[in-house]
Amino acid sequence: MIKSKDVLTLDEVDKKELVQILDLAIKLKKDLKKGISKPLLKNKTLAMIFQKPSTRTRISFEAGMFQLGGHALNLSSQELQLSRGETVEDTAKTISRYADVIMARVYEHSTVEALAKNSKVPVINGLSNSFHPCQILADLMTIKEKKGKLKGLKLAWIGDGNNVCNSMIYGCAKAEISISIATPKGFEPSPKVIQNCKKLIDIELTQDPQKAVLNSDVVVTDTFVSIHDDPKRLKKFYPKYQVNSSLMAKANESAIFMHCLPAKRGQEVTASVIDGSQSVVWDEAENRLHSQKALLASLSI
Ligand code: CP
Ligand code: NVA
Repeated sequence: MIKSKDVLTLDEVDKKELVQILDLAIKLKKDLKKGISKPLLKNKTLAMIFQKPSTRTRISFEAGMFQLGGHALNLSSQELQLSRGETVEDTAKTISRYADVIMARVYEHSTVEALAKNSKVPVINGLSNSFHPCQILADLMTIKEKKGKLKGLKLAWIGDGNNVCNSMIYGCAKAEISISIATPKGFEPSPKVIQNCKKLIDIELTQDPQKAVLNSDVVVTDTFVSIHDDPKRLKKFYPKYQVNSSLMAKANESAIFMHCLPAKRGQEVTASVIDGSQSVVWDEAENRLHSQKALLASLSI
């Protein structure tokens, strides 16, 4: 069980709890492959609110709840009274009378904060403009599977210091992975997150992708144009921050490539990298299912 009621950034999960969630995720994955599915959330209901599109988050949460013996409701914000002006606060109070846990994908991070504040049941951030904690649970699980450990590794984040990057810094800090982040000037991750984590791990901020990948065990990128972004920003990133074969060649020989998906081949990553032998993106996507099941089973539901 984790102490925090809600998971909005990943900072709520402490080091020990992170290890427990990842170990449980790996066990649940092995069990599922053997045909074992324990009804850890029998008769529990997850309410999923989506203000933005999703493939992985929606399907993995829904399948995960089903496999745990529970049920998930897919609620597009357009179909809720939210679209007609009912407040987030009233929506949270209402949903928490029916459901046992809420997962929300929102534009503004303040919306998940308001949901959490007004909900009696746990709230999970399924992506906001500032954080994507569920993605990082899957990413750390994948790194642990592929590298056999987390502590002492070096991760290079290339491109946009975005929502996924912010949660990645929290994840690396808890897992004791050092991180080097290469972004264009003005696209750095949250200074507050850096401030919170720099006492726990080495964090390098650079504008040079070649420098960031040096000696790295894991190379990660994400779209240059997130759902909430103006497409004009692409020119700040492309081609300098693209992860291509020549950049990957500067990382450790055994380095893995990760991307939360959806990807734009030819923009932040070339097909030769994302579809190549160092890429672990499909295992990473699969691990959304197992790690979120472990998270759901670790909340006070
Ligand atoms: N990585 C991720 O969150 O994917 P979706 O946007 O498809 O949910
Ligand atoms: N940074 C991306 C992640 C999508 C899963 C976005 O916010 O659109």
